[in-house]
Amino acid sequence: MRQEFTDLGAGDHGLWMIRCDAMEGPCEHPATEPLIVFDSVSKAFGGPPVLDSLDLSVPTGKTTVILGPSGAGKSVMLKLMIGLLRPECGDILFAGKRIGSMSERDLFAVRRRIGFLFQQGALFDSMTVLENVAFPLREHTAMDTAARLTCVRDTLALLGVETLIDRLPAELSGGQRKRVALARAIVLRPECLLYDEPTTGLDPIRSDVVAKLIQMLQRELRPTSVVVTHDIPLAFKVADQMLLLRQGQIHLAGPPEIFTKSDDAIVRSFLDGHATAEELCAIESEVAA
Ligand SMILES: Nc1ncnc2c1ncn2[C@@H]1O[C@H](COP(=O)(O)OP(=O)(O)OP(=O)(O)O)[C@@H](O)[C@H]1O
Ligand SMILES: [Mg+2]
Repeated sequence: MRQEFTDLGAGDHGLWMIRCDAMEGPCEHPATEPLIVFDSVSKAFGGPPVLDSLDLSVPTGKTTVILGPSGAGKSVMLKLMIGLLRPECGDILFAGKRIGSMSERDLFAVRRRIGFLFQQGALFDSMTVLENVAFPLREHTAMDTAARLTCVRDTLALLGVETLIDRLPAELSGGQRKRVALARAIVLRPECLLYDEPTTGLDPIRSDVVAKLIQMLQRELRPTSVVVTHDIPLAFKVADQMLLLRQGQIHLAGPPEIFTKSDDAIVRSFLDGHATAEELCAIESEVAA
């Protein structure tokens, strides 16, 4: 099998990404068309809707950051994008294909194109770090063992966790689990990357490394990325467009400058980390209930 190691210009991070014939080529989706579209999507779990007739376009090759308070439905949005959850109304289009009611078989092909960093890491507890990160390569490529090992080692090294290769998830700290899960999400070089809280549990230096990694992947591979985060510095470092999700709707969407310039009280309180009187009241009622 022909293999070609390509320096992706990762600079200080020294990222070497493996390319081989067994891996599929880059996205054929036209850059002028959004890769992901929410068409009037509603989602509820037996109570009031978490998402309420929500429309969204995720531009191809750009980074979209989703902000919003806890429980606003950010993780639900990501899970809808890969068909882990189904909408009650409306539909989600991925590369022009409607996935809201797509069969699991067809969804498998869609998910091959997406790297997902779950909020809780979601590593396989009985597998070592090596086996966890190699898993997508085993599932979706014909790489031999040696090539898989090189690819896994390079990806772990990028995130500073190569020494953990033989550990089990139970033997990792929260931050280490996050980095290993991130390694697994990027190991296939997917055309679309969904990150759910990529820096939670990381110290500020490692958070900045993750921000630089997202920027570098964006520059070199041009994936379509969606980053859900409460980490405002990270949001501004990586975003081409941002949206603030609140009460099932998009409260504000646009380039980062719109957010920095906004004098809307809700946007300001979110960015500056100050609760509004209304929010304090809501939290007090939650505690009292
Ligand atoms: N599988 C599920 N079953 C029932 N309710 C769910 C399910 N998944 C999410 N929810 C509910 O949907 C709402 C939104 O959840 P979600 O996980 O998307 O929040 P979030 O915006 O990601 O919050 P956080 O910032 O805390 O991660 C919450 O009220 C949650 O309890
Ligand atoms: Mg979440």
